[in-house]
Amino acid sequence: MKKKLLSVVICAAMVSTLLVGCGGKTEQAASNDQATEEAKADEGGADKGGKLVVGFAQIGQESGWRDAETASIQQYAAEHPDEVELKFADAQQKQENQIKAIKSFIEQGVDVIGVAPVVETGWDQVFAEAKDAGIPIVLVDRTADVDEDLYATFIGSDFIEEGKVAAQQMAELIGGKGKIVEIEGTVGASAATDRKTGFDEEIAANYPDIEIVASQTGDFTRAQGKEVMESFLKSNPDIVGVYCHNDDMALGAIEAIKEAGKKPGEDIVTVSVDGIKGIFEAMVAGEANCTVECNPLLGPLFFETAQKLKNGEEVEKWVKSVDGVFTSETAADVIDERAY
Ligand code: AHR
Repeated sequence: MKKKLLSVVICAAMVSTLLVGCGGKTEQAASNDQATEEAKADEGGADKGGKLVVGFAQIGQESGWRDAETASIQQYAAEHPDEVELKFADAQQKQENQIKAIKSFIEQGVDVIGVAPVVETGWDQVFAEAKDAGIPIVLVDRTADVDEDLYATFIGSDFIEEGKVAAQQMAELIGGKGKIVEIEGTVGASAATDRKTGFDEEIAANYPDIEIVASQTGDFTRAQGKEVMESFLKSNPDIVGVYCHNDDMALGAIEAIKEAGKKPGEDIVTVSVDGIKGIFEAMVAGEANCTVECNPLLGPLFFETAQKLKNGEEVEKWVKSVDGVFTSETAADVIDERAY
């Protein structure tokens, strides 16, 4: 699914793409240099015959959800070549690469900068530089812990609500009692902090017989989700459920549960967030129980919002996504309609 989606986009895309690589020097230094150099090589961001020119500083490729978001943004640009120009940077999970890319977009004089902040803190200075240059910052999918006047708007989901809904689903699945574990997203990311807050607070407030016996980061990746679950299973053999901050980590956890000789979806239930195709397949197979949707198809809304900002129009401070909840009972009915 991931490959298919990406190849469609790569073939179609007529966008300026920056892939931050590494090699030589230290890995970090090299990838930073490359981010700056390639973004500079992508010069010419100022007015292109009235086109909307945007820079987008993406986090990386940690999950199927992230790939779907990238595809949505690149696909929109590819389908509107006369109206928009996209300068795209993949920061390979490093905040400093995102900052380098933003600085480069400022130098190039783009109209609007979009960023999915890998972590919440550490953005004040670079956002202030964009503000001084008169370039609005649009936070896409994750929030940043900065003064409200340093960004124009946030487009994305309510992560606290997602965590709360996940807790209610978990409680229902395990009959309101039992030991469970939690696999968290990237440390310091709003998607992880808020999904944990929403879930943990809901359990503490309403389900006294549910105990979260362990909680640890799996960095939003399938490989780390599996590793963390392996260690949880060793130290907590009596758990009845696992809550994962994204579907990729749940898919890793499912592998670990099977390898431990237990049945995912039955012996240990799963609740996760995102709604990617892979988790629907697992639900149809009876190996996963519930996913709380988080819409990654933000490309059209992002460009529409950027255009409004370029026109000097007012935009809401939070353009909230509307998301659903899906369980193994309904997965088979909707799997073919899933767009990511
Ligand atoms: O910020 C959204 C989160 O980031 C998604 O849930 C996760 O899959 C991604 O990596």
